[in-house]
Amino acid sequence: MAESLEPAIACGDMEGVRMKTRVYVTRLLPKEAMDRVNSYCDAKVWDGDLPPPRNVLLKEVKSIEGLLSLLTDRIDAELMSQASGLRVISNYAVGFDNIDVAEATRRNIIVGNTPGVLTDTTADFAFTLMLSAARRVVEGDKFVRAGKWKTWGPMLLLGQDIHDATLGIMGLGRIGVAVAKRAKGFGMKLLYHDVVRNTQAEKELGIQFVDMNALLEQSDFITLHTNLTPETHHLIGRDQFRKMKKTAILVNTSRGPIVDCHALYEALRDGTIAYAALDVTEPEPIPADHPLLTLDNVIVVPHIASASVATRTKMALMAADNLIAGLKGEMPPNPVNPEALRKGN
Ligand code: DGY
Repeated sequence: MAESLEPAIACGDMEGVRMKTRVYVTRLLPKEAMDRVNSYCDAKVWDGDLPPPRNVLLKEVKSIEGLLSLLTDRIDAELMSQASGLRVISNYAVGFDNIDVAEATRRNIIVGNTPGVLTDTTADFAFTLMLSAARRVVEGDKFVRAGKWKTWGPMLLLGQDIHDATLGIMGLGRIGVAVAKRAKGFGMKLLYHDVVRNTQAEKELGIQFVDMNALLEQSDFITLHTNLTPETHHLIGRDQFRKMKKTAILVNTSRGPIVDCHALYEALRDGTIAYAALDVTEPEPIPADHPLLTLDNVIVVPHIASASVATRTKMALMAADNLIAGLKGEMPPNPVNPEALRKGN
């Protein structure tokens, strides 16, 4: 790959910038974004490869006004209670289930996220997983590397066709729509289920709204694009797998806990469904000795659906802009809880 992401140098606590607003950044972000943060803030950056330990985070937030967090940081009521000066939380992700937004709003802390810029990259990846599972790409690669490729075989690694198959999309938000557009190009029949109907997408894409059971029963491929909320926790479990076709392929690029991983393991092991491809798991990271990883009919990758150089840079810049706007007392370009600011931050 010609392009590369240049990580920023951690540069908080420099002489002469102590007058700037103090912020904590929980991981090194692309340099362009850190430069933007540093131009306005006195940023302290956790430069470890793993997230800052909880005790470090709880200590660091005591003295800051802004926090640039990742989806791996739990930003809950306990943390906010330690952070009396905190005014802005800018999450480097579109998802914000790691943040207690209600508590932030109660404390007039504005929360920002990074929607839009990762939509196409994530949809590309959901499609990548779907194709890889349907055509057994990962199994094929392992087969070759193991020296098992002896000849062309009429029955070797037979998979499923994507064209003309039925795709069920759970959650027709921005990313769900972007997946539907790609699927249309493959000549797939499109179904979706959501709590609200998207009649514009229905007209433009010829996608049909169905109830959840119909989606589970009729789809050859099911792709998940819902937010993680108490209502969607384990939305897909044992009962749902039983309703799916035996040939069904499940793709998850949303959040791990939307699927009950233990029920998924049983469904794949017992042939209740055919295959799964997961960008996200519960827990995350999935331990190397997790039963799912003993199966050949599952692909698991480490939460990389938005991981293109261009998209991660755009997300970082957006997170920087949200942070700086909030610190200036302005509405961030992408607020999660605009009411926090309106209440008088
Ligand atoms: C998000 O932004 O919520 C993704 O899961 C990571 O890009």
